[in-house]
Amino acid sequence: MTHVPSLNSPVADGERPVRVGVVGVGVMGSNHARVLAGLPGAELVGVADPDTKQTEYVARALGCAAVSTVEELLDMGCDAITIAAPTHLHRDVALACIARGVHVLVEKPIASTVEEGDEIIAAAQAAGVTLMIGHVERFNPAVEAIKEAIRNEDILSIAITRVGPFPPRMSNVGIVIDLAVHDIDLIRYFTDSDIVEVQPQLSSAVAEREDIALLQFRTASGVLAHINTNWLTPFKARNVTVATRGKYVQGDLLTRQVTECFGFQPDGSYSMRHLSVGYAEPLRSELLAFLQAVRNGTHPPVTGEQGVTSLKIAIQCLTDRPPAVAPAKHKAPRAVAG
Ligand SMILES: NC(=O)c1ccc[n+]([C@@H]2O[C@H](COP(=O)([O-])OP(=O)(O)OC[C@H]3O[C@@H](n4cnc5c(N)ncnc54)[C@H](O)[C@@H]3O)[C@@H](O)[C@H]2O)c1
Repeated sequence: MTHVPSLNSPVADGERPVRVGVVGVGVMGSNHARVLAGLPGAELVGVADPDTKQTEYVARALGCAAVSTVEELLDMGCDAITIAAPTHLHRDVALACIARGVHVLVEKPIASTVEEGDEIIAAAQAAGVTLMIGHVERFNPAVEAIKEAIRNEDILSIAITRVGPFPPRMSNVGIVIDLAVHDIDLIRYFTDSDIVEVQPQLSSAVAEREDIALLQFRTASGVLAHINTNWLTPFKARNVTVATRGKYVQGDLLTRQVTECFGFQPDGSYSMRHLSVGYAEPLRSELLAFLQAVRNGTHPPVTGEQGVTSLKIAIQCLTDRPPAVAPAKHKAPRAVAG
């Protein structure tokens, strides 16, 4: 095993970059690796993935080591690891890293089950390592602009649309755990409140698991929220609207245009303005925030507990749904190749 001085040791303090590795370099993990390779204060040690062709491709492009397992990556002496392996592997990979005292950023959702998520949290706490969850939308400048626009406002309702085509590789989770979990996190973030009521409507039009979800929520603070998500739309759309007593805020999370309507008059007229929105890459901001938490030993902006709470609500959407109506024979769900 390579000896690397502790990040907190006097020799290392403030002098050497955080040595980071990435586990799983598919769609998301290869982006983690790309960003980390160019991040100040970070050194991309290597990437680990059993898909040798993909690992070598990413490693060659970024000038880091390519290995097939997390253990080999840990043996190279990492301070921190970002985990972008498939969700059902998050628990095992995270526990292996934490057991070696390595800080972890786990992609969303934190795990496949609440119990596994809780195990990761307990292990990180016992080991005293940083655990952050990759709810990257929190770092979307459009989300930041919306959050700022509704600060101190009396929020009444939130509607979020997140639709698009089927992902190129279907994972073994449906759209609620894969996509709606982003928006469950955003609803909790925008309202600073917990979701206390869930009214889900789900359907499997094409895939074996649910691929359409219309989800309604009520927060403890009384906000009504709605998520419309599906994998049946030929283009990607990510839109947020927030109605408050004094404003109507609309944001496009892809184009990053955010507008607000305000100054409502009795005659129905109102004013409208475009809000200024930053341009930073959300993943870069997320990884910078993770490294800062690692360096300073501070709480990361998205904690394991927040990750588990959002997962719990997503799972509740799958379990609390009304009895399924049997699909007509000619409409029976069929598997999607992936
Ligand atoms: N934050 C976001 O916006 C976002 C977007 C996409 C995916 N994700 C999350 O990232 C994770 C990966 O999703 P993806 O779309 O990149 O999937 P993917 O299938 O494209 O990539 C997963 C990679 O993990 C590798 N892998 C499989 N077993 C492994 C193991 N034992 N050790 C290391 N690597 C292993 C696979 O070979 C593959 O290259 C999921 O948890 C997903 O929810 C997050």
